[in-house]
Parts: sequence; structure tokens; C-alpha cells
Amino acid sequence: MLKKPFNENILKNLKLKNSFIRSAIWEGLADKDGFVTEELINFYKELSQGGVGTIITGFSNIVEYDKPASNMIGIYDDKFIPGLKELVDEVHKTDCKIFLQLVIGGSQGRPGSSKRIVGPSAHTHPVTKQQAEELTIEEILELEEKFKLAGIRAKKAGFDGVQIHGAHGYLLSQFMNPLFNKRKDSYGREISGRSKFLLEVYDKIREGVGNDYLISVKLNCEDFVDGGATEEEMLWVCKELSKRNIDLIEVSGGSVISRKNEGVIRIGINNINDEGYFQSFAEKISKLINTPISTVGGIRTYEKVLSIFENTNIQFVSLARPLLCEPNLINEWESGNYTKAFCKSCNGCLNPKGSRCILKK
Ligand SMILES: Cc1cc2nc3c(=O)[nH]c(=O)nc-3n(C[C@H](O)[C@H](O)[C@H](O)COP(=O)(O)O)c2cc1C
Repeated sequence: MLKKPFNENILKNLKLKNSFIRSAIWEGLADKDGFVTEELINFYKELSQGGVGTIITGFSNIVEYDKPASNMIGIYDDKFIPGLKELVDEVHKTDCKIFLQLVIGGSQGRPGSSKRIVGPSAHTHPVTKQQAEELTIEEILELEEKFKLAGIRAKKAGFDGVQIHGAHGYLLSQFMNPLFNKRKDSYGREISGRSKFLLEVYDKIREGVGNDYLISVKLNCEDFVDGGATEEEMLWVCKELSKRNIDLIEVSGGSVISRKNEGVIRIGINNINDEGYFQSFAEKISKLINTPISTVGGIRTYEKVLSIFENTNIQFVSLARPLLCEPNLINEWESGNYTKAFCKSCNGCLNPKGSRCILKK
């Protein structure tokens, strides 16, 4: 039977009402200390009422000292659980699932936001100009524990799963990029060493939340910068994660140091050929492993979504900017109005005060 985007889709032990995922978007709507606010709950209420089957929250910080963006969700302490529970309960009213995204930002975070900047090796970030200290092995292991605790908290708050942010040039992704990772110990050199931190983070969270809980990862298909992690290396990482029974890999790519318009959030998506700019890797890996795959990046038309479902092994489709612009887009498509997303991929939503669409009606 052909997969259909609006059919119920099973992911591990979760019944998802459809195969659309809202990819993570930092909201900037928590309070300054990371607590859930009414505005944040209302933001997710509107989104969940718009028909998407699964929401991945904006990144949340797992240690207090590392805060890649202001007013982000905090998950580094039990004190955040009650507020997060309220948020999750609101989203569940519409039979929408919600995963919490977990991050360590490192030197790519917004300047002035973090109290301490850590990296695979000491460096000055070429874009943010922030200086990172090299993590010791002991500190790496401590951070793995922090990820585990964050996963346990997410589960207690009622999230249906967590997503490890292993993409876009934040710390775990930096570890895999040889331009940032110059380590000579077991966390450096070959891709097996450079991905060790990510793989151990997964193992630790799994240890904390148990086998029945859903763990996803967002991963670069490559870094799109000369000397960065390559496609071949990232295929290897996906296979390793699959061997460990990760539940979902969301394929993204690039970072702020990628070659011009080869990064994460691309502009100029003018026709169907520009859509799904990381799809080719997602297609490739979906044939090589059994782990469910989602593709994110530039998907704007229902026609594109259908072609992915009809012609590939990719099980999920993720959208980010279009749902900031039109939270109700998935309902519209489901009702038979297949108009192209109104999102112009102008990136007017990249606002340091909070992610808002400047075209939203
Ligand atoms: C304003 C904004 C904030 C974002 N915040 C996050 C984030 O917190 N975590 C993450 O993994 N990706 C984040 N992204 C990237 C999106 O999830 C997505 O990968 C990217 O926008 C491409 O998909 P799209 O073309 O559907 O927007 C953000 C993107 C935008 C535009």
C-alpha cells in the first residue's frame, strides 16, 4: 500500500495522526530563566490545532551555563517540569505528539547569552567570534550525564520523546567537524572518535529513559564547508545510531559556516526542484538502514510531500518556517486546499528577539 501523508503512522509505540513533523524552532517565549510562559503555551496550542502530527520544540538547554539563545526553554533542573507538563498537556488535547529538543550550543550560540563556552578543541568561532575552551574527558562524561537527566525530566513532564540536537554546528555537531575537533584522544581523529560524544549521549539518555521511550536525533547529512564532516562520514554515523536502535533520524545539514546558501535555512525556494534540499541524503540512508527517517529543509508544496511518499522510503516530512507563517497549513492541505505554503523563505523569522514570521496574517 502506498504511504499517505495523512494516514496514521506508527513510530515505535506511538500512534501519530499523520506523517508531518514540525521541525524544531527556537521560540524565544520562555521567561528569561527558561520557565514556560502563557505565551509559549499559546504558541504551541495554535500550532497543535493546525493539524501537524508531531511537534519538536525549540532547543532547550541541558546545563545552566550553556544558553545558545535568550528566552529558550530550560531543562537543566527539575524545577522546569511542572511548567513543561502544562505545555505538553495543552498540545495533547489535539492528539498531537510533542518531543523536547535537547542541546548544548557551544561557541555557535548567541554572543553574550552563555556563561561558559565549551568546544571539542579550544577555538574562536569564525562567525560568532566567541572563544571556546576545550572540554576534558571528565567534562564530556559529565555532560553526557546532564543529557541523561534532561531526558528523564522530559519523560516526567509527559513529552512523547526527545530529540538530540546533533546538527547545525552546535556542540555535538562541532565534535564531528574536523575544523573544530582537533583532539588527539578517543573523542577526535576519525569519524568513529568524532561521533563518540553523540553516540554516548544517545546511550546515556537511553539508559535514563528506558527502551520504550522515543529518542530521535537531528543530524547533518554533511557540513557543506570545505574540511567539514562529509556525507560518507555522516552515513556511517547514521548506521551506528541505527545499530543502537535510535527511533528516528531527522536529516538536516550545514551550519553558520557553510558555503553561501548551502546551510541549514536556505533562501530562494522558488520551485519544486529547490524543495527538499537534504532529501537526496535522506533517501540514500533510508535505503541502507531500518530506522525511520524524516527530511527537513525547504519543503513547501503538497506535491513535493506526495512525491516523497510515493517515490522514496522516507517515512516522515518535517517543516519549520512554513508552520511559523501558517500554523494551520496541515489542516488546509488535509481539507483538500493544496495551495503552496505562503512562506517565502525570506528568513525574516530569524529575529534575535524571538522567531516570528513577518508575513504572518
Ligand atoms: C527562526 C528559526 C529558528 C530555528 N530554531 C531551531 C532549533 O531550535 N533547533 C533546530 O534543530 N533547528 C532550528 N531551526 C532550523 C529548522 O528546524 C529547519 O531545519 C530549517 O528552518 C529548514 O527547514 P524549513 O525550510 O522547513 O524552514 C530554526 C529555523 C528557524 C528559521
